[in-house]
Amino acid sequence: MTTSKASESAASSSAGATGRPRLVSARFGRRSRSASARRRRRSSSIVLLFGLLATGVLWTVLAPGGNAADTASANEAVRQGKLLYSQGCATCHGLNAQGSTEGPSLIGVGAAAVDFQVSTGRMPLAAPAAQADRKDPLYSQTQIDQLAAYIQSLGGGPEKPNLTDEDLNDADLAEGGELFLTNCAQCHQAAGAGAPLTYGKFAPSLSQATPDQVVEAMRTGPESMPVFGSGQITDEEAVAVAAYVRHLQDSPAPGGSSLGKYGPVPEGLVAIVIGLGALLGVCLWIGARQKL
Ligand code: HEC
Ligand code: HEC
Repeated sequence: MTTSKASESAASSSAGATGRPRLVSARFGRRSRSASARRRRRSSSIVLLFGLLATGVLWTVLAPGGNAADTASANEAVRQGKLLYSQGCATCHGLNAQGSTEGPSLIGVGAAAVDFQVSTGRMPLAAPAAQADRKDPLYSQTQIDQLAAYIQSLGGGPEKPNLTDEDLNDADLAEGGELFLTNCAQCHQAAGAGAPLTYGKFAPSLSQATPDQVVEAMRTGPESMPVFGSGQITDEEAVAVAAYVRHLQDSPAPGGSSLGKYGPVPEGLVAIVIGLGALLGVCLWIGARQKL
């Protein structure tokens, strides 16, 4: 750039020195033509560069996350899941998960519902009952993930939360406790011990539920449990509730025997029987002494 300018001025000054102005102007005319062509070329290459840059940026923003290998393994999980599904679930839920007289449609229930139902051993349902019990799971976690990937691929729905210890440790335990008492305790009891509901149904004890299962239960509302959507309990609050349930599982009963953690009614009963009994004993003892 600078060298070409310098040589240009050198050329013009030498041309002026030789005293041939016409040739110089003709030369300059040629030069300016080629310079504007160069400028045009330069500006079009700048446009091209910007175009490429913009395409690159757009691609990184809009392209689906993950690389080709991830996509391939995700497809493989769906394929394996479909296979497992056709062997273990299709008889009740239909060949394409559309539902049958034996089981509801699974389209749109999401990976969260599959992970909850299969990892708690509720599914595959062994026999019709008022409510599926928690059992040892029949499938490995890898197989459950494959089943979940297949059902998720059919109609979306709530995803598996995949909570880490860090998520739970960072959660607001006090907020989780408050949410638990207002939303869950009426069925599961304040300490999560569970309680019977009507028509042979029951809110189970939460002593075995993993944090993921707690969030999945909230998001999918199994059986007679209501769905707690993210409009009602945000993702962050849901993690806080899961952390609180883990806290209930971890904490030993304060103040001696938990009396089965059945809540205030048996606790009150014990207080009345033992407390009043003791008082009565003291009264009788005092009365007996006064007669003497
Ligand atoms: C014997 C029949 C039967 C089999 C086999 C069975 N299910 Fe179910 N499934 C049911 C019934 C009935 C319900 C609804 C009542 C309930 O939730 O207990 C249900 C509910 C579900 C739900 C909850 C749907 C919702 O709306 O949240 C999921 C998820 C599910 N099943 C997945 C599976 C998967 C995955 C398999 C295979 C591993 C399977 N089921 C096998 C009968 C069956
Ligand atoms: C109306 C009563 C009711 C309320 C309110 C309720 N649940 Fe449930 N919950 C149930 C019933 C019933 C089941 C059993 C469902 C089944 O077996 O398919 C259940 C199951 C669960 C399970 C599975 C337990 C296991 O070990 O398999 C978890 C976890 C759970 N609930 C958490 C919660 C949380 C957290 C809340 C509050 C945000 C809540 N529940 C509110 C009735 C309720």
